[in-house]
Amino acid sequence: MANYTGQLSEILLEAYQNASARLVCPAVVQPAPGQYLQATHPHDESQAVPVTLFAAGPANPLPGGRVSLAMLGALRPDWPPGAELALRGPLGRGFSLPKRAQRVALLGLQGSPGRLLPLAAQALAQGSQVALASQALAAGHLPPAIEVHELNDLPKLLAWADYVALDLDRTDLESLEARLGGRPPRAITAQALVRASMPCGGLAGCGVCSLPAGRGTRLACEQGPVFELSELLAVT
Ligand code: FES
Repeated sequence: MANYTGQLSEILLEAYQNASARLVCPAVVQPAPGQYLQATHPHDESQAVPVTLFAAGPANPLPGGRVSLAMLGALRPDWPPGAELALRGPLGRGFSLPKRAQRVALLGLQGSPGRLLPLAAQALAQGSQVALASQALAAGHLPPAIEVHELNDLPKLLAWADYVALDLDRTDLESLEARLGGRPPRAITAQALVRASMPCGGLAGCGVCSLPAGRGTRLACEQGPVFELSELLAVT
C-alpha cells in the first residue's frame, strides 16, 4: 500500500453503468475484488474525509503501466472530469475466490452490484459459472455469460452455489440471517463485503468502521471490508 496520483477521466451518472466514475491510475493501485482505495482532491479544502472507492469492473490496461478502472463510491459532486486525485491503497481485505469454485453466486443486497463485478470477471476467467442477483440491476452492461436473477431467487441461488459473495450495508447485518432464509450450509464458502463509513482507512484507529463479528467487533477498514459470512452471522 502506498500513495499515488490518479485522474478522474470520466464521471458516470447513469445507474446502468454500475459505477460512479472512470479513474486512470498506475496499475499497482488497482484494488483486488473487495479491496478499496481512498481518494482526496488536493485542492478541495472542504473535503473532511477521503472518499472510499471500490473497483466496479475489470481494469482496461493503458500504455505506461497505467489502467483505466470503473470505480464505485460517493464521489464529491464538485470534482470535475479531469481532476487529479491523491490515492491511497489498495486497502483492506478483499474476496478470496476458491480456485475450485464452479458455481459462483453474487448477491447485491442493496444498491448497485458494481462492487461484485470484478469478482464476476475473476470467476468467469477461471471457468466458473456465475449468477448474479441484485436489488439494482443493469443487465445490459453485464457480460452475457452472467446469469441474471431476481433477489427473490436468493434461496434457489444459495442452494445452487458452491461459493457465495454478498455486498451489503452495515445496516443490513441485523436482518441478514432472516433475509438469507437461515445460515448457508457449511459446505458453501460464503463471504460478504460490508459497506461502512471508513474515514481514516486504518490510519488513525478512529473506530468509526467498527462492526459486530464473531465474539467481538472488527474494523471494516483493516480486517474487512470482506468478512467470512459465518463471522457475521455468529453474532445474530
Ligand atoms: S476507518 Fe478509522 S479505524 Fe476504520
